[in-house]
Amino acid sequence: MIKVNRYEDINNIENEAKKDYIDRHSPFVHCEKSAKAGDVFQVTVKMGEEYTHPDDLDHHIATIALYNGQTKLAESNFFAGALGGQGKKGHQTITFNIVLEKNAKLTAQSYCTKHGLWESGVIAVEVK
Ligand SMILES: [Fe+2]
Repeated sequence: MIKVNRYEDINNIENEAKKDYIDRHSPFVHCEKSAKAGDVFQVTVKMGEEYTHPDDLDHHIATIALYNGQTKLAESNFFAGALGGQGKKGHQTITFNIVLEKNAKLTAQSYCTKHGLWESGVIAVEVK
């Protein structure tokens, strides 16, 4: 069974290396809290709030996926070099354009080639 790692509030963690590890692997969903039914709605997923992730050949963010509940809506693939390559770091970021017809519960998952699968918190979007 695949282990799914989840964000912990790094303000409650004292160890600097652990804060960095958790933050840089966590996808954060950024969008408006409400949407108009049938309209294009932008959802940005950004890796890490404070700490950046490596973009090395053997260690990079390979996918970011967006879910509404159990339904996968979109997924983006990345290859080493997308953020400058070996020795570089960055916040891998993707903006998805989706259409919602009813209230949604958005979650993002990301995959690091070295540190596995990570999941964001749930963001509720009210659709009018
Ligand atoms: Fe990693």
